[in-house]
This record gives sequence, C-alpha cells and structure tokens, in this order.
Amino acid sequence: MTKYVNAVITEEQKESSLPILEGTLGPHAVDIQNLYPRHNLLAFDPGFRSTASCKSAITFVDGDNGVLLYRGYPIEELAEHSNFEEVTYLLMHGELPKVDQYQEFIALLHRHNLLHEQVMSFYRGFRRDAHPMAVMVGVVGALSAFYHDVMDIQKQEDRMRAAIRLVAKMPMLAAASYTYSIGRPQRYPNNKFDFSSNFLQMMFGRPSEEYVVDPVLARAFDVILILHADHEQNASTSTVRLAASSGANPFACIAAGVASLWGPAHGGANEAVLKMLQEIGTVENIPKAIARAKDKNDSFRLMGFGHRVYKNFDPRSRVIQVQAKKVLEHLGIKDPLLDVALKLEEIALKDSYFIERKLYPNVDFYSGILLRAMGFPMNFFTAIFALARTAGWVSHWLELQHESHGIDRPRQLYVGSPLRHHPKKK
Ligand code: SDX
Repeated sequence: MTKYVNAVITEEQKESSLPILEGTLGPHAVDIQNLYPRHNLLAFDPGFRSTASCKSAITFVDGDNGVLLYRGYPIEELAEHSNFEEVTYLLMHGELPKVDQYQEFIALLHRHNLLHEQVMSFYRGFRRDAHPMAVMVGVVGALSAFYHDVMDIQKQEDRMRAAIRLVAKMPMLAAASYTYSIGRPQRYPNNKFDFSSNFLQMMFGRPSEEYVVDPVLARAFDVILILHADHEQNASTSTVRLAASSGANPFACIAAGVASLWGPAHGGANEAVLKMLQEIGTVENIPKAIARAKDKNDSFRLMGFGHRVYKNFDPRSRVIQVQAKKVLEHLGIKDPLLDVALKLEEIALKDSYFIERKLYPNVDFYSGILLRAMGFPMNFFTAIFALARTAGWVSHWLELQHESHGIDRPRQLYVGSPLRHHPKKK
C-alpha cells in the first residue's frame, strides 16, 4: 500500500499528496516528479544533499552507521574473502559468480585487456610530466574512436562487452600513463597473473626481467581495488550517469567519470592527504594543522576527513589502515607520516569541532600511506582510484540502460536579470 505525505502547496493553498517511495534499506523518498507539472514548483537542493537521483540496486551506504554493502554484501567481508575480479562480476551482474561464470569472466577480461597499438601512440602527445589523470581522461575518451562504432548500445551483449573492455583495459591504460612519464617501455598484460598482480607487473615490471609478485603487496592492492570499486551515487558516478542519460557512448561516459573523480574533494583527496601529511611533517605540528582546519578564514581542510554521507567511520578507512600497517611492517618501512596520520586521527576525533560536525577519516585518509609504501608516485594515487571505480561506473552504466526517464535535465532557481531589450532594438 503506497504511503503519502500531504504537502500543502502554499502559493495556491492547495493540498497535494506526494507518494512515499520505500527502498529495501535506508531512507524513504518523497516522489516529487509531478511537483512541477502539477504545481509549477521546483524542489531546491544544491549539492543534492536530500535528493535521490535514481533507483539503484548496486551499492548501499548507511552514513550514520558506517555501513557499505555491494549488492547486499558488507564491504568488510568482501575485502576479507573476495577478490577484485569477483567483486567486479558481483557489481555488474548482481550476484556472486558460480565457478563456471567466474572462469568465463576471467577469460573475457584476459581477451580484452590489451590496448590497440594505435592507442599507445596517444601517450606520446602528452608532456612527460603530465598528471596521470590528465592522460587517463584523454586516453579513456579516445577509446570511443576504437570501440564505439563496433557496438550497438541497444544490444545487451554489446553493452556488456563494452563494460568488460573498459574494466579489462584500464590496468594497461593506467600503467602506461606512468611508464610513459618515466620513459620505461610498457609491458603487456601477462594472463598468468591475477588482475592486481597483472597491474603491478605492468606498472613496475621491466620488459627485460621476469616480474616476481610479492603476495603481500598484491593482496593489499587487491583490497584497495575492492574498497574503491563503488560507492552509490558519488560525484563521479553521478557524472557517468548524467552523461549516459544522453545516450553518449560508454567510453566517453567513463572519461567524464575520470574527470570528475580527479577533484581534490573527491578522488583527488588521497594525493591531497599525503601532501597535507608531508606539510604537517611531524606530530608536534598537528595542533597547528587542527587549528587551521577549524579556522573559517583559512581554506585549509583536513584532507581525508569528512564525507557527504558518512557521519560515522568510513568502514573502508579502517580496512585500509590495517593493510597499511601490514604492508609497512612487511616492507620494514617506518613511515613517520603513518605516525602523524594516526596521531592526527586520535586528536581530531577528540576535538569538539570534528565531533560536532561528525567528521571522521574517509577512504582516502590512509590509502596514500599504503600506496606510497608500495612505490606508487603520489600523483598516481587517483589513477588507482579510477582503475578501481571503473567497475562501479560500468555497473551503474549498465543499470541505467534499463531506466526509462530519458535524459537527466535538472532545472534551476533563476536569479538573473528579468527580461530586457538591446538598446538598438527599435
Ligand atoms: C571521496 O561521495 C562519495 O561517496 C565519495 C567517495 C567515494 O567513494 O566515491 O567516498 C570518495 O570523495 C571521499 C571524500 C574525499 N574528500 C576529502 O577528504 C576532502 C576533505 N573533505 C571535505 O572537503 C568534505 O568533508 C567533503 C567534501 C568530503 C564533504 O563535504 P560536505 O559534506 O559538503 O561537508 P561541508 O562542506 O558541508 O562541511 C560541513 C562542515 C563545514 O563547517 P561549518 O560550515 O559547518 O562550520 O564541516 C566542515 C566544513 O567547513 N568540514 C571540514 C572538513 N570537511 C567538512 N572542516 C575541516 N576539514 C574537513 N575535511
């Protein structure tokens, strides 16, 4: 039985009943689709804090209780018991794969993980010191020129192939944005490796030598990919969905997602966290940093802290913290920045400013420390986020193909000039 909320539409003193939509979990939604057609009224929600932009069955985030589910499975369980290939299948298909489905999926990823040789020529057009995300935005978009014309977006099999091509090619595409910058010949995928190990060998391997996988690092990297794979309607995923609503091809839509993810308020935060920790430098400087973060006249923010949805711990940050400690110990690295990060978290979580605003460490707070320990350059951290989030982006792209509301077209509250005429108008 549909529940309704009675909204009194003040201008006309009309009472209107707006249906309440109930999901499986989380807050209900007031269906306001008829608010404008029926009452010529818009809902005003800049930043979409109170707006459900779509129905989705992929990921659920309960920000108040620090819960993250991929297709109903807790992120902590997937990080412990699954791998990125299985999680990607789960996000795309909605169920964990059976053995034969998993093997077929791995075979498809292997078949499509090479980049067209001509795509490799695009890298030469970039400066050597180009930011890897600048390269990825360009090259991912350029894939449209190679694969879009051989797909019919109306066919489910073509859509699934495009999605698999994007997931499969992203590792070589991302690794090449690094190896090009240091002039190292790009290794090809080697399908004897799993997804994460294959990426590490393309990233750090030399064509002249056998690459030896460090299982501790490969596992830690796979956990990083699992944790970053999806996160409901975040900025970059919403960008992909909005681009896709116009019928744009999936390669262009994912390129738009890469662009949106790059921002320091979003996926660029992992790089910004490490720069912040380096700027703080020592535990003794933490009180000054905390004071700056609280100073409204100072644009400084504690990067890696706070979240639009999590008003409790980001469950991902806890898992990454454990992996960071494990990898640092395994490598015998004593990273003073980890000490600064742990102390910063301890002090901030006791400070009323952060407590009142429910600001907790998010996924980016510890990931930079882990990635740096693994040898990734700081400007490459967000490229790794994009590598992982491609699984979520393509899953949302596939899901929205079944939606029927047409192109996304937000309205606005117009506050500009009323009608006026050019002085030369007769
Ligand atoms: C990701 O959406 C997703 O799901 C994203 C993501 C994903 O997986 O896709 O989870 C990945 O993007 C994680 C977030 C990474 N970004 C950062 O770590 C950058 C630092 N964080 C902030 O910029 C901020 O917390 C945001 C952008 C993450 C969230 O901003 P909100 O929810 O819009 O919060 P707000 O700007 O409205 O701030 C509320 C208050 C303000 O103070 P008052 O005006 O109330 O006095 O909290 C303060 C803010 O000044 N505040 C901070 C702060 N974050 C918010 N103060 C100091 N340091 C911070 N980091």
